[in-house]
Amino acid sequence: MPIKTTVITGATSGIGKATATALAAQDHAVYLLVRNIIRGEAVKQEIIDKTGNKHVYVIKCDLADLQSVREAAAGLSQKLMSVNTLINNAGAGFSERQVSKDGFEMTFAANHLGHFLLTLSLMPLLERGQARIINVSSEGHKLGKPNFDDLQSVQKYSSVKAYGMAKLFNVYFARSLAQKFGDKGILAFSLHPGVVNSSFADKLRGFEKILMKLARPFMITSEQGAETSIYLATAPQLDKFNGSYFKKKKVAKTAVIAKDVAAQEKLWQISEKLISKSVV
Ligand SMILES: NC(=O)c1ccc[n+]([C@@H]2O[C@H](COP(=O)([O-])OP(=O)(O)OC[C@H]3O[C@@H](n4cnc5c(N)ncnc54)[C@H](OP(=O)(O)O)[C@@H]3O)[C@@H](O)[C@H]2O)c1
Repeated sequence: MPIKTTVITGATSGIGKATATALAAQDHAVYLLVRNIIRGEAVKQEIIDKTGNKHVYVIKCDLADLQSVREAAAGLSQKLMSVNTLINNAGAGFSERQVSKDGFEMTFAANHLGHFLLTLSLMPLLERGQARIINVSSEGHKLGKPNFDDLQSVQKYSSVKAYGMAKLFNVYFARSLAQKFGDKGILAFSLHPGVVNSSFADKLRGFEKILMKLARPFMITSEQGAETSIYLATAPQLDKFNGSYFKKKKVAKTAVIAKDVAAQEKLWQISEKLISKSVV
C-alpha cells in the first residue's frame, strides 16, 4: 500500500513529471491533475513502467477553467479521505495577453487562481492528511509587483510583469496558508526550482523565446529542477519553516515585497471573491 497520497498539477512535462515520478518511486500514490487526458495517461504509464508503482491516477483539471478545477476537486473528494501532499506545480507564461474561460488574464488564472480554488476546495482532505502544500514559484517573483488596481492587466500587459506578479502570488499564497492553517497541521511552502530546460519556453514567442534558447546550455535538467519540490514533500521536520520560500533545498530570501502581510491578505480576499461561486 502507498505510504502517502500526493496530488500534483502540471505533471505532463518538465519539473512536474520528474517530481511525480520521484514520489511514485518513493511509494506515494500520485494523482496527476492534467488538462490533457491523453498526455496524462501517457505520463501515467511511463511512471508505472519506470517505478513499478501502480498507484498513479489521472484526473482532468484545467487550472484556467474554474469549473474544471471544481470538478477535479469534487472527484478527489469522492475518492479520497485525505491528501498528504499537494504540489501546485503547473505554470505558464504568455507572450501576449490571453484570457481564460472565466475571463481572467491567463498568467493569473493558470499560475494563481486555479491553484487557489483547488487548494481551498481540497482543504478538508488536506487537513485530514496533515498536508504539505508546495507552490512552485520562481525567482521571477522578484520582477513582480502586486498590481491590485489592474490584476487582469487590462490597462497594460507585459508578459514579464504578469508572470512576476503571478509567481509573487505563489509566495503570498504559501505564506497565507501557513498563517491561516498552520494550527491545523498544514505546512505550506513556495520554491524556485532553478532555471530548467523544460517545455516552458515552447509557449513563448519572439525575443523571450530567443533569450530562453540562448540560456539553454546553462540550464539544469527537469530532474534537478524537481529536487526542491521532492525535498519539501519528503524531508522530516519542516515545521519551523512553515510559509518559507526555498531554493536548492534551503530557505532562501524573497523580494522584500513578498513579506508584505497586508498584500498577502488582500490577495486572499480578492481571490476568495473571484472564486466565491466556485468552492465545492
Ligand atoms: N523552467 C524553468 O526554468 C522554471 C523556472 C522557475 C519556475 N518555474 C515554474 O515551474 C513550474 C513547472 O514548469 P516547467 O518548467 O516544468 O514547465 P513545462 O514543462 O512547460 O510544464 C508546465 C506544466 O503545467 C501544465 N499547465 C500549464 N497550464 C495549465 C493549465 N491551464 N491547466 C493545467 N495544467 C497546466 C502543463 O500542461 P500541458 O502539458 O497540458 O501543457 C505542464 O504539465 C511552473 O510553475 C513554472 O512557472 C519554471
